[in-house]
Amino acid sequence: MMARLRNWQRPLAWSSAGAVVGIVAVLVTTAVTSVVNDPGRLEPGPIVILSGRDDSLGAQRQQLVSQWNLLHPQSPARIVELSALADAQRSEMLARAQSGRGEIDIFNLDVTWTAEFADAGYIQSLDETRIPVGSFLTGPMDTCRYSGQLWALPFNTDVGLLYYRSDLLDHPPATWKALEDDVTMMRARSGNDVDGYAGQFADYEGLTVNALELIRGAGGSIVDNQGDVVVEDHLAQVSEGLDRLRVIAPTGVPELDETSSTQLFRSGKALFMRNWPVAYRSLAQELEGAPAVRFGVAPLPAGSGVLGGQNLAVSADTARPRAARALVEFLTSDRSQQILFERGGLPATRKVVYSDQAVRERYPSPYVATLEQALEGAELRPAQPHYARFSQVFRTAIDGYLRQNAPLPDDIQDQLVGALKGRLAPAGDNWPR
Ligand code: GLC
Repeated sequence: MMARLRNWQRPLAWSSAGAVVGIVAVLVTTAVTSVVNDPGRLEPGPIVILSGRDDSLGAQRQQLVSQWNLLHPQSPARIVELSALADAQRSEMLARAQSGRGEIDIFNLDVTWTAEFADAGYIQSLDETRIPVGSFLTGPMDTCRYSGQLWALPFNTDVGLLYYRSDLLDHPPATWKALEDDVTMMRARSGNDVDGYAGQFADYEGLTVNALELIRGAGGSIVDNQGDVVVEDHLAQVSEGLDRLRVIAPTGVPELDETSSTQLFRSGKALFMRNWPVAYRSLAQELEGAPAVRFGVAPLPAGSGVLGGQNLAVSADTARPRAARALVEFLTSDRSQQILFERGGLPATRKVVYSDQAVRERYPSPYVATLEQALEGAELRPAQPHYARFSQVFRTAIDGYLRQNAPLPDDIQDQLVGALKGRLAPAGDNWPR
């Protein structure tokens, strides 16, 4: 049954600032009612959120922050936006956290950095008893935990999806082999300039994610559910997945990121694209009179998608911890999550949003069900403090394999185990630096 979030009659608090700007009222969940409805308990003064680029349609994160500011003029928030690239965001966030100047109140962390920031003491744990944990999707919530504690709340979730040219294909491929066959068939057509599977293949976190999906699609794993590196048991599947990636990627495995792969697909030059859900709303838009490309969306073949997303965490050295927590709870409330998804295309972290009628009406069927299916089967990356180092070592090997035809290093298992443990490279070795 569909729910209508706007009309909920549960004991939830609505606060309307509609008279001021005519924006819709904002729903605040029970868990935050006490703090948010009692602004006197919030420390006055500005709150700074450090975040990656807001790719949502219509800058919905900013819209929510503006709404907060109308409701809480004593605790005005502002977003400081960083690069669109995950790795550059991390470096900048770490630098700000290490500076110890206390100028950041909230970090909007990639799901893979929560453990790192918690372990380093840059963020504060949250009191789980105050949070309606069960109302969030399980996977995103798990990315907020580290070492038995809750460190953040999930702002938006993410999963790799398959975008395909619905004017050229009757249906999306259900297996990676079928996808490869589609690419080959298209290449054989005379006069064809629609080439391959565009993904995030540049040397950054995007390549790690894309490679993990292809390897998973071949039945392999790099790290198991316990967080142990198991690549040595899956070398055949690793090669199979990467060999396939080399075949299906546009010629030369171009160094694309999220934005440039979307541009390539939009230009009509790729048969498939692997990208996050936020690309959906932007692809559907016509740009400067250019008709949007005709496309469909499906889960990645064999349910191989990796889970992404961002988590909001309160800085350890904020001078306004109550206000910062209240803002994190506000931004992750049911109503905020509905707005982010319905208007902005950022997948919600609250379960109820997926059965909301307005959301279902906003997207052509079966997009919401497709997204739910992909999210349910998504694989988490390791939630460990040295994940970034691990990812860097992993994709250096992948990059060499894909672009220079280099074999995987014989000691890849040891390299990855060492990286995940935070071991520094032994002197004189050939580890990536
Ligand atoms: C998206 C995902 C994030 C991932 C990144 C890689 O932002 O949400 O989890 O690490 O892309 O580029």
